[in-house]
Amino acid sequence: MHLKLDISDEFYSKKRPYHPSDKLLVGAGPSNCSARVLYTLSHEPVLLPGDEVFKIMVEFREMLKFVFQTTNEATLAIQNSGTGGIEATLTNTVDPGEKIIVGVMGFWGKRVADIAKTRQLDVVEIVPQFGPVFTLNELETAIIKHKPVLLYVTHGESSMGTVQTLEGLGDICHKYNCLLAVDAVVTLGAIPLYVDRWGIDIAVSSTQKAARSIPGLAYLTFSPKAVERMKNRKTVPPFYYNMLELFKVWNCFGVRSIYHYTYNSNLLAASKEGIAEIIEEGLLETWQKHEELNKRLWDGLEKLGLKFYIKNPEYRLHAVTSVELPPSVSFESFNNFLIERYQIYISFGIGPTSGTCFRIGIMGYNATAKLVDYMLEKINEALKYCQGEKLMTTKLG
Ligand SMILES: Cc1ncc(COP(=O)(O)O)c(C=O)c1O
Repeated sequence: MHLKLDISDEFYSKKRPYHPSDKLLVGAGPSNCSARVLYTLSHEPVLLPGDEVFKIMVEFREMLKFVFQTTNEATLAIQNSGTGGIEATLTNTVDPGEKIIVGVMGFWGKRVADIAKTRQLDVVEIVPQFGPVFTLNELETAIIKHKPVLLYVTHGESSMGTVQTLEGLGDICHKYNCLLAVDAVVTLGAIPLYVDRWGIDIAVSSTQKAARSIPGLAYLTFSPKAVERMKNRKTVPPFYYNMLELFKVWNCFGVRSIYHYTYNSNLLAASKEGIAEIIEEGLLETWQKHEELNKRLWDGLEKLGLKFYIKNPEYRLHAVTSVELPPSVSFESFNNFLIERYQIYISFGIGPTSGTCFRIGIMGYNATAKLVDYMLEKINEALKYCQGEKLMTTKLG
């Protein structure tokens, strides 16, 4: 048979090997990973179903329980980014028409509300009245008023760089028969997060920020009450996100099934190494380090004359910081300078910080004093360049 293409392959057939350069990823995520994590990613995948992947899962689940500080058996990783994790929690625990409250402090809280609406949940969005984060009192008042089945709050709102107090919130929720769900996408492995102690029923995190791996998995944990709710739901969740099936793949409750979908075994193994790095360093030590280094960054930025979007340091997140750019400096030229000169990638502002701030992430593998000092030096240089000082001996680019 004479075969002939209908569409020319002239474009596709040219050899274009992709050579990623060494980048410094110090925005709101993804962050850089260690050589150990990257090396683990570079192996051949493991054939599924099989004992090798199951062995990774068994160890990984125990490690995740530890970093979440929980004894929840329903603790696992699913294949998608943090957003998918949020969608999975909502679609598995709440039926369409049921009422939930979403605490909207910034871009990510709004996103939870938007995802919930696609599921036809009855969504009550509330915003903080007395500052950038919620007081427990105002959350309790909202629960009493609206009687939701679930309250969703963002622990670390990376659009602004705020941290929501969670201690005591679980008890409040449970008093009114409401589950507490928490977006911990940024906070796992960066700042204190006590799932059991704080009465969190559902927590979602991800691989690519402080958890020291690349994007692609969401880490989830569900309390026995959340699992009970899941079992009694009236509607079926999306097939890919069906937690009761995925619990079996992870042997959460002693009933094992060998397949729901093909996990990326490299990603599982590498992300497990990322979590192992946190455990080896010590969870308390890791939390302390993030606090010290982010404060070191704030001190340095203040000395450069920069101001923060969140004025009160008490509310600031020890992972991602929103920094106001002086009016004379455009984000574009500041960002271009850092990328073109040094391959440094920061993030632009989103939601409330859009157009006025840049965001810098000192977290995970990138949480080192050396890197903080390096960043302060380069930010200073970029500011001077953008403000027109003749620092440069050569033209950019
Ligand atoms: C607080 C928070 N929640 C959710 C997400 C969404 O995660 P992903 O981009 O991995 O889907 C992000 C990502 O930046 C985040 O910072």
